[in-house]
Amino acid sequence: MKNWSPDSWRDFPIKQQPTYDDLNKLKKVEKELASYPPLIFAGEAINLKKDLANVVNGKAFLLQGGDCAESFDAFNAANIKDLFKVMMQMAVVLTFSGGCPVVKVGRIAGQFAKPRSADFEELNGIALPSYRGDIINEIGFDEKSRRPKAKKLLKAYNQSAATLNLLRAFSRGGFADLNQLHSWNLDFVKDNTLGGMYEELANKISESLRFMESCGISSANTPQLHQTTLYTSHEALLLNYEEALTRKDSITGDWFNCSAHMLWIGDRTRDLKDAHIEYFRGIKNPIGCKVGPSMKEDELIQLIDALNPENEAGRLNLIVRMGANKIADHFPKLLARVKKEGRNVLWSSDPMHGNTIKADNGYKTRDFEAILSEVRQFFKIHKAEGTYAGGIHLEMTGQNVTECTGSCSSAVTQEGLASRYHTQCDPRLNADQALELSFMIAETLKEARKDLNK
Ligand code: PEP
Ligand code: CO
Repeated sequence: MKNWSPDSWRDFPIKQQPTYDDLNKLKKVEKELASYPPLIFAGEAINLKKDLANVVNGKAFLLQGGDCAESFDAFNAANIKDLFKVMMQMAVVLTFSGGCPVVKVGRIAGQFAKPRSADFEELNGIALPSYRGDIINEIGFDEKSRRPKAKKLLKAYNQSAATLNLLRAFSRGGFADLNQLHSWNLDFVKDNTLGGMYEELANKISESLRFMESCGISSANTPQLHQTTLYTSHEALLLNYEEALTRKDSITGDWFNCSAHMLWIGDRTRDLKDAHIEYFRGIKNPIGCKVGPSMKEDELIQLIDALNPENEAGRLNLIVRMGANKIADHFPKLLARVKKEGRNVLWSSDPMHGNTIKADNGYKTRDFEAILSEVRQFFKIHKAEGTYAGGIHLEMTGQNVTECTGSCSSAVTQEGLASRYHTQCDPRLNADQALELSFMIAETLKEARKDLNK
């Protein structure tokens, strides 16, 4: 890689970064972090890239989801376990009803740094630096909380390591065994329509498992039935952290970001001349880039060429986040151009970030109908172009929160938002809403795959 090093981004303009007042302390923390073990192994990132290449070729579907921002306070086993359960449920629905293997990627074990629409937040005539995620500062509205502190990078690393450890245990230790699929239904989901729909599907799968077992195929002799892989991902926004965890793979000699399997660039930091593009072009992980309504066709082709010069399938995931009102105007021409130019990319839909609104009572929210509408349009536009809608990117939680309104299963109203509004940043789908969305996507996916195989 010409003129690239893990720190070459430092010579480029950069957006959405904190201003640390003690740069010596920051340097010390970066040095310490650089001496810590990697969180993932390069071979795993290479495996994810292969799995994502299958998505590009229409043989699988990508499910990416998790918190908008992980938090130090909400760090506990129950939260991790419940997200794991919903992801497993959604994957089962998509695999069984949608008829296609699912690649699971969590927004977890590192999703701590947040881009903000304004550098300052104003309340009662007082202006303070915006909250930028727990890896940077604190959410409380006072001067001390909002001051960026370098040692938070170490805490984020430790929390990510413990989170990943538990995810690996769930994935490999028996909890992900398909025979456990009834136990993934969360208590508060169980009793409603959706819980019922899931139970029905789970019963059918259990029946098939019993049949297979009598034919000699069981989780005791078939690892695919007994274990799973949940990859990790986050927005690589705070490059000081990402650089410290960038390591040279001893097998391939290539550089990998070893803080997560997949990293993405946010919609606000994807300027071609900026530091984030510089950093990302040198790492060999599978990567993503958000594509918002301001993206121009030529700009997108240049971005693809900078990030995936070898046109490798599975390397680059374009995560479309236009908004339900804008996707029909902005997305078709981008898709047509990328297709015409023969670029191998994975297209997924983030129906969250273009659909954020402010409720009358001041809560930031998203309406389930708008989310659903953006996903439907995403599939429809792909169908018209003859391309494959490869995945979905969601802000979601396994908790019974009231952050997004609507859906038939969990009728959260704008007035009801206050009752369990726990997010650190953007509103997330609760487990009911996430499951409902996956049933709808499964139907659409089944149709889309029929068209593809015609
Ligand atoms: C996010 O994914 O949390 C995010 C900030 O998205 P975007 O960059 O698309 O606004
Ligand atoms: Co968000």
